[in-house]
Amino acid sequence: MTAAAARPLSPLVDEVRAGLSRPQKELSPTLFYDRRGSELFETITHLPEYYLTRTERSLLATRIPPVIARLAPRTVVELGAGSAAKTRLLLDAVRASGEAATYVPIDVSADFLRETASRLGEELPGLTVVPIVADISAGLGLPRVLPRPVLFAFLGSTIGNFDMHAAIALLRRVRDAMCPGDHFLLGVDLQKDVRVIEAAYNDSAGVTAEFNRNVLRVLDRELGATFDPDDFEHRAHYNSMAHRIEMHLVARRALEVHIPDVGRISFRAGESIRTEISCKYDRASVERLFSGAGLVLEAWVANEDPAYALALAVRDTK
Ligand code: AVJ
Repeated sequence: MTAAAARPLSPLVDEVRAGLSRPQKELSPTLFYDRRGSELFETITHLPEYYLTRTERSLLATRIPPVIARLAPRTVVELGAGSAAKTRLLLDAVRASGEAATYVPIDVSADFLRETASRLGEELPGLTVVPIVADISAGLGLPRVLPRPVLFAFLGSTIGNFDMHAAIALLRRVRDAMCPGDHFLLGVDLQKDVRVIEAAYNDSAGVTAEFNRNVLRVLDRELGATFDPDDFEHRAHYNSMAHRIEMHLVARRALEVHIPDVGRISFRAGESIRTEISCKYDRASVERLFSGAGLVLEAWVANEDPAYALALAVRDTK
């Protein structure tokens, strides 16, 4: 064993090494979101082609308040606490239903959480904010005692980044944190005309292409890698068999990259790194996810065109 192999390495190095040694090279989509990547994603959410965010927001604004009024949750636990605007819609509905509310945002980014927590604390007096820094794909890290009932929320169709197996594992962790009377609200992008989906990931302004290439800048900065983002072309195509968008970075020519602690990585011309999958669902596939995780669908709040849904689940008591 060489000295380099024996040295304890960071989880990032391990993950990048494993991903880039597969026959289909791949990187985790969580690597997109440094400050610049988060800004690019925010820009994507306003693009005319990217229908997901605005469609979900309109469902949250118009169709979810009566649902929340019925559930009357006292706590909202948000996984991967995303856009503040959507969180506000949820919290406004909770506050309208009475009781003092507790908001528990869970996110990997401590900076992001600190900002969200202090801003919401100012904007919504009386709201108790309990931020939790955790990688939701590893565990939720929730406090044992929370005012109940709890509404768990995982919005934005971020579940689509996980394949079926990983998605079920994640939802099972949510289920295990739920008590009788708690609910889980999941945002899912639905299957539709392939042209509409592909346009959302190939915007004419090229923002998604920059967002995709940003992962290489992250590796250059964090690991001292020698990627030149201009050597890679953005490609996003819909895989109709697997019902998912796949984003790739395609090498424009044969090239080699050096990553300290990982080694030399070579690319053939046209060889790609898969940087993201974004699964698209229908009601039946969401029900399969839920049942695999010990959850059961209680309500399906869907938009027709573009098709998008918020699925409400409870623990399966069987
Ligand atoms: C944040 C994971 C929901 O899959 O649509 C946007 C990320 N990738 N454009 C998605 C994304 C390319 C987005 N999610």
